[in-house]
Amino acid sequence: MRSFLNKDADCVAVAETVARRDRVGFMELYFIVVIQRGRDSTLRILRGGFFPIALGDDENRTGLGELDGGAKTGHTRSDYKKVRFQSRWVWIQVHMVQRKVMATFSVRTPAHQYDCVVARGCVAQLADRIPDKSGNVFVVTTEDVWDLHGRKIEQSLGSRSFHALFFPGGEERKRMVEVEILAEQMVELGADRSSIVVSFGGGIVGDLAGFLAAIFMRGISVIQVPTTLLAQVDAAIGGKTGANLVSGKNLIGAFHQPLAVLIDPDLLTTLTPREYRAGLYEVVKCGIIRSPRLFGIMHNQPHQVLARDPATVEEIVAQSVRIKAEVVTADEKESGLRRILNFGHTLGHALEAETRYAHLLHGEAVAFGMRAATHLGWSLGTCPEPDARAILESIGAYGKIPPLTHIRAENLVARLGSDKKTIQGKVHFVLPKHIGETEIRSGIDGAAILAATGQALAELA
Ligand SMILES: NC(=O)c1ccc[n+]([C@@H]2O[C@H](COP(=O)([O-])OP(=O)(O)OC[C@H]3O[C@@H](n4cnc5c(N)ncnc54)[C@H](O)[C@@H]3O)[C@@H](O)[C@H]2O)c1
Ligand SMILES: [Zn+2]
Repeated sequence: MRSFLNKDADCVAVAETVARRDRVGFMELYFIVVIQRGRDSTLRILRGGFFPIALGDDENRTGLGELDGGAKTGHTRSDYKKVRFQSRWVWIQVHMVQRKVMATFSVRTPAHQYDCVVARGCVAQLADRIPDKSGNVFVVTTEDVWDLHGRKIEQSLGSRSFHALFFPGGEERKRMVEVEILAEQMVELGADRSSIVVSFGGGIVGDLAGFLAAIFMRGISVIQVPTTLLAQVDAAIGGKTGANLVSGKNLIGAFHQPLAVLIDPDLLTTLTPREYRAGLYEVVKCGIIRSPRLFGIMHNQPHQVLARDPATVEEIVAQSVRIKAEVVTADEKESGLRRILNFGHTLGHALEAETRYAHLLHGEAVAFGMRAATHLGWSLGTCPEPDARAILESIGAYGKIPPLTHIRAENLVARLGSDKKTIQGKVHFVLPKHIGETEIRSGIDGAAILAATGQALAELA
């Protein structure tokens, strides 16, 4: 089967028996057309078409020509076709099976290029992603994640020895001192410049383990294996690493691109509903800033999304990863396009700071910030009313965030000047233009910001 499923064998006519459909395995984003003979579960390959398809908004451009029904992730479709078979025309039932076993998105920066793999079960690839020349492997994780999913890492690494290093977790522990503690443990365990860090956890572990790798012996490799939705669609991609200072979040850090990012949506089944929903707001954000198609899924199918339907989760994660990978590729260090990822973050960060990082999860604060930015765009005329309403509805579809009755709009607006994203004292807002596109504005009238903030607060009261 493997040899047949070879990219070089483009559109070949083959008659090869496959035992069962579920054995049609390991195709990376390729279609295969099979004929089913009556009730016989045996499948016979009529024609294999090998088309790399982008899991993006333009995915309909590829497919199998006449058979292409605009397949979607996990889509299986059958149709009747008249084909010539042994000199006779016969009607056959044709199944178009799109087995997206693995979607891979590439991040390219001037100095690095790496894969972000999105696939259920892809933790199993970890061993293959560690270069042969690597020395000791250090898996940085938290106890909760290790208890739930550590076995998958152990299974992947097999006989290869590794050290699991435990970090206590929590935003208040995302500090330099913890990086030092981990680095000391590594030295004691014989780490050297050839050692490799595997980050296995949510965004906090990812940021901290990435930072550890960035500065340990002036930089060693890291593979990111994110385990929360927020980390899978955002934090693990793009090479931003860091820790908090007493005076502010993420005020110390480095850009350190990983060797690879392995994104396994199956890991998300154990997330608490609140953590999962917090990540969903970042997915909604990706749709708003860059993809009407992703926005459409989030807007129209909240039930499947909230029920964690596996194919839907895989699709929304993959599309978000594609967007983040594209944006980071275009602008590694956030001087241009990458700033669109901050949609909802200007006032979101202000709210996180105002609530001392204790009341809300990051994604929840972003949900608030997106509401405020949408009201602002609507009032300034950058965003038409139907789009603004659709955005507000989509954010609302993912549940309530903790009450904000004690928060005053004036206090949030007063915090804007001290945001890390402020450039030379100017507050920049990412405003929606319509679904899929944003614009960046600075110098916005304070009264308009205050009014939009007040509206967002009132909606969430
Ligand atoms: N580097 C970046 O570009 C970037 C972008 C966005 C956010 N961040 C950072 O990410 C951090 C937030 O990350 P987060 O939201 O993932 O929080 P987190 O890392 O604290 O994880 C949330 C909780 O879920 C637990 N958990 C993780 N995986 C789990 C799983 N599969 N099942 C059950 N429980 C699991 C964690 O142990 C933790 O208790 C912040 O510090 C933020 O600054 C970084
Ligand atoms: Zn964010």
